[in-house]
Amino acid sequence: MGGFSLKIQDLLFLSVLLLCIFPRLTLALNPDGQALVNFRIAISGSDGVLEQWRPEDSDPCGWKGVQCDSKSKRVTSLSLPNHKLSGYISPDIGKLDQLQFLALHDNNFYGAIPPALGNCTNLKSLFLQSNYLSGWIPDELGNLPELENLDLSSNSLSGNIPSSLGKLNNLGIFNVSTNFLVGQIPSDGHLAKFGNDSFLGNRNLCGKQVSQDCNNGGPSISPSPDSAQSQNKNGRLLISASATVGALLLVALMCFWGCFLYKRLGKNDGKSLAMDICAGASIVMFHGDLPYSSKDIIKKLETLNEEHIIGSGGFGTVYKLAMDDGNVFAVKRIIKMNEGFDRFFERELEILGSIKHRYLVNLRGYCNSPTSKLLIYDFLSGGSLDEVLHERSEQLDWGARLTVIMGAAKGLAYLHHDCSPRVIHRDIKSSNILLDGNFEARVSDFGLAKLLGDEESHITTIVAGTFGYLAPEYMQSGRATEKTDVYSFGVLVLEVISGKRPTDASYIEKGFNIVGWLNYLASENRRTEIVDPLCERVQTESLDSLLSVATQCVSSSPDDRPTMHRVVQILESEVMTPCPSDFYDSSSD
Ligand SMILES: Nc1ncnc2c1ncn2[C@@H]1O[C@H](COP(=O)(O)OP(=O)(O)O)[C@@H](O)[C@H]1O
Ligand SMILES: *[C@@H]1O[C@H](CO)[C@@H](O)[C@H](O)[C@H]1NC(C)=O
Ligand SMILES: *[C@@H]1O[C@H](CO)[C@@H](O)[C@H](O)[C@H]1NC(C)=O
Ligand SMILES: *[C@@H]1O[C@H](CO)[C@@H](O)[C@H](O)[C@H]1NC(C)=O
Ligand SMILES: [Mg+2]
Repeated sequence: MGGFSLKIQDLLFLSVLLLCIFPRLTLALNPDGQALVNFRIAISGSDGVLEQWRPEDSDPCGWKGVQCDSKSKRVTSLSLPNHKLSGYISPDIGKLDQLQFLALHDNNFYGAIPPALGNCTNLKSLFLQSNYLSGWIPDELGNLPELENLDLSSNSLSGNIPSSLGKLNNLGIFNVSTNFLVGQIPSDGHLAKFGNDSFLGNRNLCGKQVSQDCNNGGPSISPSPDSAQSQNKNGRLLISASATVGALLLVALMCFWGCFLYKRLGKNDGKSLAMDICAGASIVMFHGDLPYSSKDIIKKLETLNEEHIIGSGGFGTVYKLAMDDGNVFAVKRIIKMNEGFDRFFERELEILGSIKHRYLVNLRGYCNSPTSKLLIYDFLSGGSLDEVLHERSEQLDWGARLTVIMGAAKGLAYLHHDCSPRVIHRDIKSSNILLDGNFEARVSDFGLAKLLGDEESHITTIVAGTFGYLAPEYMQSGRATEKTDVYSFGVLVLEVISGKRPTDASYIEKGFNIVGWLNYLASENRRTEIVDPLCERVQTESLDSLLSVATQCVSSSPDDRPTMHRVVQILESEVMTPCPSDFYDSSSD
């Protein structure tokens, strides 16, 4: 039996529990209504529009924003634009397979567009514009043959426009403007008929529709009359920006020489990434951490294109940069910029660059220009824990999972207690734990959330995909402390143990997140059922200790959470080296 699957008794228990909590609840609400209830559970804020969605109704047809087929009582339309809805869009929406009209635009939805929308094959209109949706446009939207209107504009979507959308032959309105999309716009389908006003304001789209050729080779370098002028202008900026860093001036000038070429070339070749990489700025390297000249690095940066993208997150895109000597780096290109932010940026980065530790991802240098900011990190060949855990989990046996937890704990403990100044990470989540070739963990992106977040940095963090890891008091106040990191670390431990994301749909269905689920299991004395059924030969004592630590870390009261130092101590003494006696085998539970 899977350690996580529900048994009949549990279902009965949950139903009874629900009946006790909602005395008027009859189980008569039809499946579409249930799906909408789950849709509502994933929404954490609104202007009150969902208040009269009463689960005790037999169908949702009278609910605000909902329309049904009058005979079948199946939902055909869900229209809730401009109601301050915040939260993510539940994949349960995919269960509304008679849905023809879905309008959730002008709200504060974040997270991904659920691929399950591809199940709503009757959908004619999908309006999701003006939210904070991130991630990639799901391929599955290409499975909606009836789709006539698709507006995803003004979100934070990244990646390519999937070629499957070319299959949508009924499409009349299509808009993906103002996102962070890159790459070729599918040319061999029905997207060919849309003009540049469907694609405005993206990072790097190319194709006929926007009159950008995707297959120009590298740009050629030849001086042009206006280059001297732009050189002067950039030069002044540059000098004033680095006046205090006199020693860097030489490097800066070299970089700048390279950069103005890019800038100029960018005008000729819209698709080249190099066009505004590092324009008019300096590459700053920490402590001889990069044994190359600025010029060599820039030359390499120039060769980067979409093929080198290894990921994208809330703050930008990450490229793989391979130097000629075989060294490989990860270049994070940050899009977001505030006014008057540059000096602060440099000061903070000097600090982050000085922090070196075995369990932290090394920041080797950065480039700061008015248009683009690049951070150069060590490349970790094992990828992120998020990918490994959720896409190739068979690679992580129990021992490997413990090692990863240990490494992450040590990295975070170093940030909290041993480095100077101390650093609150603020964005602990599985995609910020990277693995090296030996599956040793390193913590990445420490301090970035603070650096790049604005006044409402907790909102930024939520948009960046951290929802589910955030301590309750942090959600309320937006104030990060060491203890909010400890909470996120506890969630991370649970994710590693269970193999499920903190807001996995199976938790949401039960009205929980991962922490709620742990607490529920604990109240039933069934805590160990949270273990990933894929894990074999789990040592009982070490598991008990680990679950105890995790439980303390995710305590709702910050004072009850241990420090990371203490966590490391417990992990070392009780989890990594328990007596090798009995095993708890979750797969034979
Ligand atoms: N130093 C690195 N080495 C290898 N892969 C990396 C590195 N940094 C980031 N990545 C990959 O790029 C992805 C995007 O990173 P990032 O922009 O930090 O967003 P997020 O952390 O929210 O996923 C990560 O999920 C990871 O797969
Ligand atoms: C969508 O359909 C697929 C395949 O038919 C199914 O596995 C999945 O559970 C469905 N998703 C939802 C949310 O209904
Ligand atoms: C968009 O295309 C129209 C003609 O199709 C053209 O006049 C206009 O300049 C283009 N706009 C941009 C920003 O390329
Ligand atoms: C797409 O959306 C953008 C931003 O909202 C808008 O400026 C543009 O006019 C829209 N294009 C079309 C074709 O509707
Ligand atoms: Mg990251």
